[in-house]
Amino acid sequence: MRLTVAQKIIKDHLSIGEMKKGTEIGIRIDQTLTQDSTGTMAYLQLESLGVDKVKTKRSVAYIDHNMLQTGPENADDHRYIQSVAKKYGIYFSKPGNGICHQVHLERFGVPGETLLGSDSHTPTCGGIGMIAIGAGGLDVAVAMAGGEYFITMPEIVKVELKGCLKPGVSAKDIILEILRRYKVKGGVNKIFEYWGEGVKSLTVPERATITNMGAELGATTSVFPSDEVTYEFLKAQGRGSDYREITADEGAVFDEEFVINLDELRPLVACYHSPDNVVPIGKVENIRVDQVAIGSCTNSSYRDLMRVAQILDGKTVAEHVSLTISPGSKQVLNMLAENGALSKIISSGARILECGCGPCIGMGQAPNTDGVSLRTFNRNFKGRSGTPSAKVYLASPEVAAVSALTGYITDPTKYISEGDINLPKHFLINDNSIIPPAEKGENVEIVKGPNIKPFPQGKPLTKDIGGKVLIKLGDNITTDHIMPSNAKLLPYRSNIPYLADYCLLPCDSEFPQKAEKFGGGIIVSGFNYGQGSSREHAALVPLYLGIKAVLAKSFARIHKQNLINNGIIPLIFQQEKDYDDIDVMDELVLENILEQMEGDTIVANNVTQNKRYTLILDETERQKEILRAGGLLNFIKSR
Ligand code: F3S
Repeated sequence: MRLTVAQKIIKDHLSIGEMKKGTEIGIRIDQTLTQDSTGTMAYLQLESLGVDKVKTKRSVAYIDHNMLQTGPENADDHRYIQSVAKKYGIYFSKPGNGICHQVHLERFGVPGETLLGSDSHTPTCGGIGMIAIGAGGLDVAVAMAGGEYFITMPEIVKVELKGCLKPGVSAKDIILEILRRYKVKGGVNKIFEYWGEGVKSLTVPERATITNMGAELGATTSVFPSDEVTYEFLKAQGRGSDYREITADEGAVFDEEFVINLDELRPLVACYHSPDNVVPIGKVENIRVDQVAIGSCTNSSYRDLMRVAQILDGKTVAEHVSLTISPGSKQVLNMLAENGALSKIISSGARILECGCGPCIGMGQAPNTDGVSLRTFNRNFKGRSGTPSAKVYLASPEVAAVSALTGYITDPTKYISEGDINLPKHFLINDNSIIPPAEKGENVEIVKGPNIKPFPQGKPLTKDIGGKVLIKLGDNITTDHIMPSNAKLLPYRSNIPYLADYCLLPCDSEFPQKAEKFGGGIIVSGFNYGQGSSREHAALVPLYLGIKAVLAKSFARIHKQNLINNGIIPLIFQQEKDYDDIDVMDELVLENILEQMEGDTIVANNVTQNKRYTLILDETERQKEILRAGGLLNFIKSR
């Protein structure tokens, strides 16, 4: 059978099920990654699984999100993660070494392997020919303990790239174009596989920009072939021996396909407050910007920052603009320092931040009130920047750098006539911020600061479940809405009781109090509930508050799995009009839930209105078992 790249890798790792589109499959996981914001919880869960050592080929714990140390909480979390890593056979990437996805691409990614990461942008390593998937921390903990990861066998979408990008147009514009076409829900249960002559013209970091932001499509993942370009990148990273060629077979069958003509592509910008709000740059040109932020796991590679240095060289940032630059890794920063590019950046008046997520996760650099911020990041949800009234636009490093100089959103093709940056033959390799695990983990003591609290666990289902509808939400509710993430809250990622006071606050300032008053209840939502990130806290915190079920028109993939893993039942309206019917404070009861779960639909009784609604239980038998057990940990322990 002729296979695509994605099918080849999945086939090599298939341990449960058949590669039949739409059916559930279990795949073996070779590598895992965590970042600190989801990592503390993932490692608490790993500890509770009772294994001595991780079973994966390579697992890495990164510190890149919660870097500010305005109190002891973040530093305590870092120490905890470092000690767990040492004990359980996990590499530890120290704070300052860089953003998980950038460093993983540079130092760990291996073509043809599988990677599961507790961060939604894990697909970045698809740029090097991996099947790399973002998941909740518990799924990653289970993978570290040797368990399979389960997905619905996705459709494979062929994205044919023709031609070559023009100067001033970049990989970011390719993924923005796909977001313009497919929107934030358009990739659900799909893998975007890149193909065609245009692929050869893109370096690995450029490919990684595209696979990274493929997460915004809601896709399972995105993947490029592993070819000569991949080999050159790995050799330059001193890892030529990790190379393996993986290309789609001639005549491989894709489920869907479309073409992007790179020659015709022009710079694009995603307007506030959604990454699919994409327009040609001409539509937003001349909007005055207050802040320009360059960095994030999407655009902080050596290629990107060298391009930025080239644009800024000898010029000055506009007087009303604050330009911040966060390099993706120590390797990138070190190389910029050695080749003089850093000096060009500093001379322009840019502010250099440390290697990490920084402003992307709202860790500092919140824009001014009502400010316009132009960012090279992948998300611009309302409030994520730390300033709810800010208008955040997303664009390429070229657009960002040129606009920082002019002070207005500016089309870089008018200023850039040169070709692209060539990657070096040898990257600067210095892994002294990556700490290997201990030879004998049993002697390592785990360090837990007082802020690290036990996580809530679901209870097995018994008879009826129900409660009041505590909130009725619209479409595209993000994990940022459910569990806000900002510099004040991030230090409490290992303290669920503390975070509970902030659950769904952007949607209803009284939600936590209502949940407490009524002993939990039910959430009702529109389409694409839980889009945006792998943040398991968006399920853990509602679980702590007693949420039993979420009724929605549809769910984002990772969040739905996180709900199931935590024993909260995700249910889809069979008739969308039933959504309109339900009012906040209606009392819903799902009677005889265990019996009802034998089928594929559940009837909810609206006691207040004396009405009944049919809801789709779109779960596999395995997922139903997890729900019956009250979550994945209970399920695994019971086996
Ligand atoms: Fe970090 Fe932002 Fe990426 S938070 S992992 S840089 S999406």
